[in-house]
Amino acid sequence: MILQTFPPGYRLEAVRREHPRKDFHCGSDAVDDWLASKALQNQEKRLSVTKVLLERSGGIAGYYTLAVGQVDFSDLPAEITKRLPRRNLPVAVLAWLGVNKSVQGKGLGPLLLAHALRGCYEAGKIFAFVAVVVDAIDDSAKAFYKRWDFRELLGQPNRLFFSSKQLEAMMEVVA
Ligand SMILES: CC(C)(COP(=O)(O)OP(=O)(O)OC[C@H]1O[C@@H](n2cnc3c(N)ncnc32)[C@H](O)[C@@H]1OP(=O)(O)O)[C@@H](O)C(=O)NCCC(=O)NCCS
Repeated sequence: MILQTFPPGYRLEAVRREHPRKDFHCGSDAVDDWLASKALQNQEKRLSVTKVLLERSGGIAGYYTLAVGQVDFSDLPAEITKRLPRRNLPVAVLAWLGVNKSVQGKGLGPLLLAHALRGCYEAGKIFAFVAVVVDAIDDSAKAFYKRWDFRELLGQPNRLFFSSKQLEAMMEVVA
């Protein structure tokens, strides 16, 4: 699918208070506001983990947030659920992802996505889940995820999933 190595000069770190979170602007207020005011707080409460991609200058080029969640059996297509119990099923959630306007168009978004999916894949060896789910904030975000083979959950056009089978196949290809 996509390479996972960031260009020279970029480094990925777990979000910290010192990172200039309020200077991040990706074109979506919701994505900016999450980083500015919620990401660190949620991380401290052990609700989610946010990784920021830093430029040499220390500015935030991009970020993503991962969490765990559940979806109902009936939200997923039969090809995934055919041998699964009829109850809530565990999923990894790619809750937020964004790239700062100043560095959009350089392929950092797909690199962050690939990195987040690699993290899910590694975590999946210890904590099992049936899919990675994302909430697309608008049609453009949805198109972005669909580009990488995420598919809509049944009856929830703004929630997309990437099955654990897809994840394994992708990671075997790029391993
Ligand atoms: C969506 C976003 C993460 C893309 O990041 P980016 O680093 O600017 O991505 P790029 O423009 O370099 O695009 C890389 C590839 O993805 C494709 N792409 C980018 N945005 C896309 C979109 N909205 N729909 C479909 N494909 C898209 C590009 O065409 C490009 O493909 P190519 O390499 O074959 O030419 C970024 O625009 C952003 O932060 N948007 C606002 C927040 C947001 O929508 N977040 C996602 C949901 S939370």
